[in-house]
Amino acid sequence: MAVTVLNHSLIKHKLTNIRRKETKTKDFYQNVSEIAGLMAYEITRDFPLKEVEIDTPICKTIQYELGNDIVIVPILRAGLGMVDGIRSMIPTAKVGFVGLYRDEETLEPHEYYAKFPDTIADSIVLLVDPMLATGGSAIAAISMLKNRGCTNIRYVGLVGAPEGVEALSQAHPDVDIYLAALDEKLNDKGYIVPGLGDCGDRLFGTK
Ligand code: PRP
Ligand code: URA
Repeated sequence: MAVTVLNHSLIKHKLTNIRRKETKTKDFYQNVSEIAGLMAYEITRDFPLKEVEIDTPICKTIQYELGNDIVIVPILRAGLGMVDGIRSMIPTAKVGFVGLYRDEETLEPHEYYAKFPDTIADSIVLLVDPMLATGGSAIAAISMLKNRGCTNIRYVGLVGAPEGVEALSQAHPDVDIYLAALDEKLNDKGYIVPGLGDCGDRLFGTK
């Protein structure tokens, strides 16, 4: 298991935009999407390639394509904000969905939806969710993916709390974790500090 906090000036700049409380839905969504695209570019840097023979207008040549199918799995709702940005980098990626909400009192995740491509077990899965707080949602989502046979799963989040990173690493030590930022802590309501507030509400304008 590895925890990677992507150190990139553009990512830091865009994260500052979404942390600002004045940032409104349209700009919030755009920045989340762009950060996700930049993260995908970095994370896929060493994904396996396969050789393919093609014809250029000039001659035959051996070149390279991605060696595995890639499936993006957002945890609803907030994970949806990351999908378009990653698809702009990997347009061949398929998309599955996990619906989970966190009980506001207990902070326990509750499953309400799951839909995956048939080929998911043989694919590299990018599980995406902007917020890794207690880690409960990510842990539950990864268990759902493993129950469907997935063995190659990466967790991609924007902002993580140390508590969530620790819990996720303990529960699923085989899953690499990628974050745009590792914040200080959780507050007594389970929100990340300094964080960016309720990501789902800010993405979809629901509060
Ligand atoms: C948020 C967030 C994560 C989860 C993180 O979702 O998008 O899925 O909380 O918290 P955890 O690490 O403590 O599980 P929420 O349950 O608020 O649902 P929403 O995306 O529909 O708003
Ligand atoms: N979910 C959010 O949207 N924000 C947090 O800070 C924690 C969980």
